[in-house]
Amino acid sequence: MDSGNDFRDRVVFITGGARGQGRTHAVAFAQRGADVVICDRCEDSPAVKYPLATEEDLAETVRLVEATGRKCLSAKLNTADRPAVDELVARAHAEFGKIDIAIANAGVSVIGSIDTMSIETWNEVIASNLTGVFNTLGAVAPGMIERGYGRCITISSMMGRQGGTQQAGYSPSKWGVIGLTKSAAQDLAPHGITVNAIAPGNISTPMVHNDALYSVMRPDLEKPTWDDVAPVMQSLHVQPVPVLEPEEITRVALFLAAEASAHMTGIVVPVDAGVASRVTA
Ligand SMILES: NC(=O)c1ccc[n+]([C@@H]2O[C@H](COP(=O)([O-])OP(=O)(O)OC[C@H]3O[C@@H](n4cnc5c(N)ncnc54)[C@H](O)[C@@H]3O)[C@@H](O)[C@H]2O)c1
Repeated sequence: MDSGNDFRDRVVFITGGARGQGRTHAVAFAQRGADVVICDRCEDSPAVKYPLATEEDLAETVRLVEATGRKCLSAKLNTADRPAVDELVARAHAEFGKIDIAIANAGVSVIGSIDTMSIETWNEVIASNLTGVFNTLGAVAPGMIERGYGRCITISSMMGRQGGTQQAGYSPSKWGVIGLTKSAAQDLAPHGITVNAIAPGNISTPMVHNDALYSVMRPDLEKPTWDDVAPVMQSLHVQPVPVLEPEEITRVALFLAAEASAHMTGIVVPVDAGVASRVTA
């Protein structure tokens, strides 16, 4: 039986594609025959306490995709900027004729409690993590409706299925992604389009491996190292592993983009080392 993991003649659009999970997705789809469209803001935010991707990172993803023999269209843009997202989707349509698969992956992590979080931090995390997903799905939906086909994948988080201390911004933003995913799934179901979310646990990317997060995890140490932080990260999971690899998310994204999942829509797939066992069915 063919699970349909062949993406020749498909076009995939991935936001936040300069590094981390977005890059892993881009290369994996290209290796399976898809042409790729990526964007990334490629600049830091005063509200985000670790470095975001750079233009060099974006160029490196383009290089890796092109090294597979596939085409790669890229743009430096913030997914909170709807006209910029619409413009890139229009360029993709002009160049490739369509977008078949969209992965709304761009996002930021912020730490803060309800009594201390600034409105600037709240606005950043909602803009990047929720409005950006709304803009991505909204921009690709008309073309997918026209062609009667589409696979949309959003990236929530294990923190989108629970609350937590210091999660006054990130958890609501990722919880909102699930509500948006389920609503869009119903809007788009009549048109042959599926919309599903992945809820990752701790994933080994620059979002996790940075001094700011290390200090939040080990406030008792002046310069915590990964060895100091790993046990705390592991305690957030149920299975005894501190982080998962980005490829573990990519494998699920490939499945949710394939024919094998044609009749799965509006679901949330946790890839979270067992955290799903702690939240409601
Ligand atoms: N790493 C984890 O532990 C983890 C866990 C759960 C969910 N996630 C989610 O996975 C997704 C990918 O994150 P990652 O782990 O690869 O981290 P990452 O920081 O390496 O990658 C995120 C990318 O998104 C880009 N980006 C951020 N805001 C943007 C915006 N508004 N417009 C355009 N680009 C933007 C960044 O520059 C960066 O390149 C994010 O949505 C994140 O919230 C990550």
